[in-house]
Amino acid sequence: MKIIIINIFFLFTVLYLSAQDGHQLWLRDKKAEPVTVVCKKISATISIAKKELQQSWLGNAGATVTLSIKKDNSLKQDGFRLEANSVKANSDIGILYGVYELLRRQQTSEPIKNQVFNPSYEVRILDHWDNLDGTVERGYAGHSIFWRKNDPFTVTDLDKRLWQEYARANASIGLNGAAIDNVNASPKILSTGYLRRAKAIADVFRPYGVKVYLAVNFASPSTLGALKTADPLDPGVIAWWKNKVKEIYRLIPDFGGFLVKASSEGQPGPQNYGRTHADGANMLADALKPYGGIVMWRAFVYSANNEDRAKQAYDEFMPLDGKFRDNVIVQVKNGPVDFQPREPFSPLFGAMKKTSVAPELQVTQEYLGHSVYVVFLSTMWEECLKSDTYQQRAGSTVSRCTDGSIYPQKHTVIAGVSNVGLDTNWCGNQFAQANWYAFGRLAWNDTLQSKQIADEWIKLTFYNDPSQKSGEEDYANDWNKNFLAPVKQMMLDSREAAVNFMMPLGLHHIMSANGHYGPGPWWAPKGWRPDWTPPYYHQASTNGIGFDRTRNGSDAVDQYHEPLASEFNDLSTCPENLLLWFHHLPWDYKLHNGHTLWDALCRHYEKGVNQVREFQKIWDKAASFVDSTRFIEVQRKLREQCSNAILWKDACELYFEQFSHLPVPYDLERPIHNLDTIIADEFKHSND
Ligand code: GCU
Repeated sequence: MKIIIINIFFLFTVLYLSAQDGHQLWLRDKKAEPVTVVCKKISATISIAKKELQQSWLGNAGATVTLSIKKDNSLKQDGFRLEANSVKANSDIGILYGVYELLRRQQTSEPIKNQVFNPSYEVRILDHWDNLDGTVERGYAGHSIFWRKNDPFTVTDLDKRLWQEYARANASIGLNGAAIDNVNASPKILSTGYLRRAKAIADVFRPYGVKVYLAVNFASPSTLGALKTADPLDPGVIAWWKNKVKEIYRLIPDFGGFLVKASSEGQPGPQNYGRTHADGANMLADALKPYGGIVMWRAFVYSANNEDRAKQAYDEFMPLDGKFRDNVIVQVKNGPVDFQPREPFSPLFGAMKKTSVAPELQVTQEYLGHSVYVVFLSTMWEECLKSDTYQQRAGSTVSRCTDGSIYPQKHTVIAGVSNVGLDTNWCGNQFAQANWYAFGRLAWNDTLQSKQIADEWIKLTFYNDPSQKSGEEDYANDWNKNFLAPVKQMMLDSREAAVNFMMPLGLHHIMSANGHYGPGPWWAPKGWRPDWTPPYYHQASTNGIGFDRTRNGSDAVDQYHEPLASEFNDLSTCPENLLLWFHHLPWDYKLHNGHTLWDALCRHYEKGVNQVREFQKIWDKAASFVDSTRFIEVQRKLREQCSNAILWKDACELYFEQFSHLPVPYDLERPIHNLDTIIADEFKHSND
């Protein structure tokens, strides 16, 4: 009998400890205190705000909270004013944002004073690279939450529940838009069946203040429609888009607008018809204008010519500055190449002074370990947003050049490429949720620091978890010291660790062609476009390594404003973490700390591996604070990350050693792989 009782107890304990699966994100159920909510207005959004307060109130039991909507000139757009027991805003959605902030502060024990909160950007949007057959380009968390191959137009209760949970998560961090299909867009998205599904999604999103946007294919008038051309200056094409836009707004009255990847990586665009990006974007903008819609026109363009790829977007877009309509926003990736672990900021930021420019960040970890690595991207985005462009003297940071602080932009936008899929925990890795969270928080407030964001996310996601420790007398202190502090440090160090073992000192784009995950600095099949192969970027030879973008090389440095141009050009002032981005240097080049370039590279690789080992220790030590499901999931991910980090280290050391003709310094670990087997393995996968 005793044994049965013990077993039952054990079973309950295990079930209880396993209760979390990450699906609730940072919005876990709480033991709420009773609260009365007073609001004169009735609306779907206000009902949500009331429900959220009632479900999660951690303030004084029996308190009364007042929600009031009235004009307050200190409030911008959907900003709000917060006090311990009241939220004031100009709009219903402002109230909802205020409620989420109030609840977050209660849960994280941050003070609640009379304070105004205004968003940094007007449009805070997630771009989903979701294909209409349900697959997700660069998605590592299962299939699309919006589209599926079979029975594509039936909207089930399950669909609606998921869309509602997604919209709620977005609203809770201030995100207000979602482009729900891939930028490599299928013309079919504009056909009736898909538009009706988009309408169903928009209907679920609406009370949460999340607008639907669509990525469109520029050739749609001729591929979906029956026109012979998609020339943006053709009257038939102009009329086709106007009618299409009218049809969309009839279905979705608050439709946000279009996202366009045009004349880029094989996608059709205005250049197919001898027109410019401005011709194309303006034609769409004119169609959307009467309804208040916007066009987010991507500047991710480069072609296989002899010009340095990192320079091409700037060269193509700068001459068009001032030629775009005021409802066009040119969307620019954070760096000039492509979401690499470290890039300098794109020189277009701040340089386009008469055009609205939006930063595009990648939340999905295409080049940063997919959903395997624990990499907190907030520090990378913070680095970009806080970079000084010097375009309007010192202090012209990327964020200030894009959020309306410096240039009088009609619209301000910040976009993040989403990492969400059908996986139970949404993002494939519990810690990847922190990147979704961080993107929202930075989009709302681009001055926030990563350490605060990490602090909030850990508290919201793990505090009082049903774990072996919960309920213990000194839980709060113990948790702060032995869980919050080390896990936060792990998150804050995680991006630099990945840079260290993958692409230190400014190296970039040397990943394997097979899915952009592991190392592949050797990959250069005959006949392949050079700018799609790693040797184009690392330029390793017996003479040295690195891409010469100085005035003696491609002169990309001069796309930056002084003093940056000269700083990057000059070896003595170029930041060491961007050295090989801007310079080609001999293997025995001496760094500031006295190490040769070869030595330093090897030391970075080893440091990165050791950092991941340290993360494993931190996490293993934290076991008693976390429910078993999430603990084991993360533990497995870190083990995989560690073995991949070693692979990166070994592959890069062994490959570059062929050029440096120098041994890995003897005080460092020896490689445990052979280069030929790594390459053969990679080749096998790329042929799978
Ligand atoms: C990267 C990515 C592509 C994507 C492209 C884009 O190149 O690998 O899958 O389509 O970026 O941003 O358009």
